[in-house]
Amino acid sequence: MDSLRTARARLKSAQRVVVLTGAGISKPSGIPTFRDAAGLWKDFDPEEYATPQAYARNPQKVWEWYAWRYKNVMQAQPNRAHALLVELEEQKGEGFLLVTQNVDGLHPRAGSKRLVELHGNIARGRCETCQERFPLPDPAHFTPPPTCPACGARGRPDVVWFGELLPPGAFERAERAFAQAEVALVIGTSAEVEPAASLGRIAHLSGAYLIEINPEPTPLTRLADCALPIGAVEGMEALLG
Ligand code: APR
Repeated sequence: MDSLRTARARLKSAQRVVVLTGAGISKPSGIPTFRDAAGLWKDFDPEEYATPQAYARNPQKVWEWYAWRYKNVMQAQPNRAHALLVELEEQKGEGFLLVTQNVDGLHPRAGSKRLVELHGNIARGRCETCQERFPLPDPAHFTPPPTCPACGARGRPDVVWFGELLPPGAFERAERAFAQAEVALVIGTSAEVEPAASLGRIAHLSGAYLIEINPEPTPLTRLADCALPIGAVEGMEALLG
C-alpha cells in the first residue's frame, strides 16, 4: 500500500484521471447513503420503492418517496469534496471524467461538466410514453406524478431502478475512460452494485493507479494502490489540498 505522498504525486502528474463517486461523497451534505448504518435501505425496502415492479404496483407510493428525496436533495448543498473534484477537472481538462452513481445532482450543481450520471438524476422526470426527459417542477410546487411536457402522459422518476438498464452509452463511456486512465479515484461507494462496481477493477487491471477514499473497507480496498480510510472531504483535501 503506497503512501499519501505517492498518491498525491501520481494524481498530480497524471493526464488521464477518472473518478467514480457513490453516496458517501454526499453524506457530508446531509444526504443519506443507502447501506450505511443510517442508510435509506435500512428504513425503505428497495423492492418496494426502487424497482419497475414496485412502480407498476403502486406508482403514487413510489412517486411520493422520490418527491420526498427530491425535496431533501434540493435543500442540500454540494460540499468541499464536490468542489475539489471541479478543481481537478479544471486542472486535467479533456483527460478527466467524473462518473457518479448518485442521482442527487450535487456534482452538476457544484460545476462538474465532464460528468456521467450512471443512475440518472432525481430532479428529472421521464415520460412513460414518449421517453421525453424533463426537469421536475420546483419541489415547493411539485405534486407527483408529473405530466410529460411533450405529450401529456405520466412521467416517472428519471433514475435507474434495480434490474433496469443504464442510460444508453453511459456505461460504455465510463468503461472506456476507466480502461485508459492513468489514475482512478473511487470515492464513497460500497462497490457492491454492478456494473458501476466493476469500474475500479477495470482501471486496476488496465494498470491504472487506484486510489480509494472510504472510511470503511470495500471489495475494492485490497486492489487499491492507496486506500484512505477517511471521509470524502478529508480525503480530497489530503490529495489535492
Ligand atoms: N465519505 C466517503 N465515504 C463515505 C462517507 C464519507 N463521509 N460516509 C460513508 N461513506 C461510505 C460508506 O462507507 C459506504 O461504503 O459511502 C459508501 C456508501 O455506500 P452505499 O450506501 O452502498 O452507496 P453507493 O455505493 O453509492 O450505492 C450504489 O446502490 O442503491 C443503489 O442506486 C443506488 O447508486 C446507488 C448504488
